[in-house]
Amino acid sequence: MSSVTLSGVMTLGDRQVYRLGYGAMQLAGPGVFGPPKDPDAAIRVLQEAVAAGVNHIDTSDFYGPHITNQLIRQALHPYSDDLCIVTKVSARRDEKGNWLPAMSPAELTQAVEDNLRNLGLERLEVVNLRSMLGTHGPVEGSLEEPLTTLLELKARGLIRHIGLSNATARQVADAQQMTPIVCVQTQYNIANRGDDALIDALAQQNIAYVPFFPLGGFTPLQAQELNEVAAMLDATPMQVALAWLLQRSPNILLIPGTSSVAHLRENLAAATLTLPAGALAKLDSISG
Ligand SMILES: NC(=O)c1ccc[n+]([C@@H]2O[C@H](COP(=O)([O-])OP(=O)(O)OC[C@H]3O[C@@H](n4cnc5c(N)ncnc54)[C@H](OP(=O)(O)O)[C@@H]3O)[C@@H](O)[C@H]2O)c1
Repeated sequence: MSSVTLSGVMTLGDRQVYRLGYGAMQLAGPGVFGPPKDPDAAIRVLQEAVAAGVNHIDTSDFYGPHITNQLIRQALHPYSDDLCIVTKVSARRDEKGNWLPAMSPAELTQAVEDNLRNLGLERLEVVNLRSMLGTHGPVEGSLEEPLTTLLELKARGLIRHIGLSNATARQVADAQQMTPIVCVQTQYNIANRGDDALIDALAQQNIAYVPFFPLGGFTPLQAQELNEVAAMLDATPMQVALAWLLQRSPNILLIPGTSSVAHLRENLAAATLTLPAGALAKLDSISG
């Protein structure tokens, strides 16, 4: 049995996906801009993930831009029926790689069309509206206008389900007045636990919470407690960080990102790890 299956399953839209998935952002070049140094290596990572049982891949057409989706298509198309590719819209990159808002109806429509073309799909399974009201974290404000555009694209058959990213609990609740929200993707990890209440509220509704930067993102997590627990369990600190998220709540879906097959294998093996109560208590002292 693949270790991925040990992570358990969770509903994502009308799919059941393994809770341990893969985030494709690291496959583009440095700064998520331009092509990777070794495109063949990126393709190997994607193929190995799917061969290991991963059936949930997170991406966006603004990774690269376009490059990451094109790599996914090259590596995995035609896609197996059970593969759920989740994308996100509402940002664009300028010529220097800066991340800029792109939330107008025309920009969102273009983004959905770009995702469809570059992924080689006729319909996107899940599209996250990534709030760009704040670039670095959720900021209150209305998302009604961009959601209205996504609902029009959904009505045209281009999107099956809608999720939210970088959103506050209030924005999630407001969006739910307009349409079912199948997942929420915001920054959360063992050292950054600001979304605890939101995770629990979504769990009550059986809605997936998908933490981005599960390993700390561009600055991978470092903590003495992680090292100590890892040594105790004969695991790595990154595996402990992922196992902690899996144990945190059954509605958490993991999308750790890596450009390395060795790291991918290490991350997928985190599903075999069970953290005993003593380890959880020690890890609780990592503040957030
Ligand atoms: N909605 C949003 O606004 C948003 C924002 C950011 C990310 N995301 C999504 O979330 C996914 C995950 O986030 P992320 O990739 O930025 O961050 P992450 O998963 O927290 O960490 C990725 C970093 O950790 C390193 N890494 C991965 N596995 C490792 C291991 N076993 N040992 C040591 N280092 C390891 C990677 O480097 P190597 O490549 O060398 O392994 C990379 O530098 C992304 O792929 C993307 O799909 C969404």
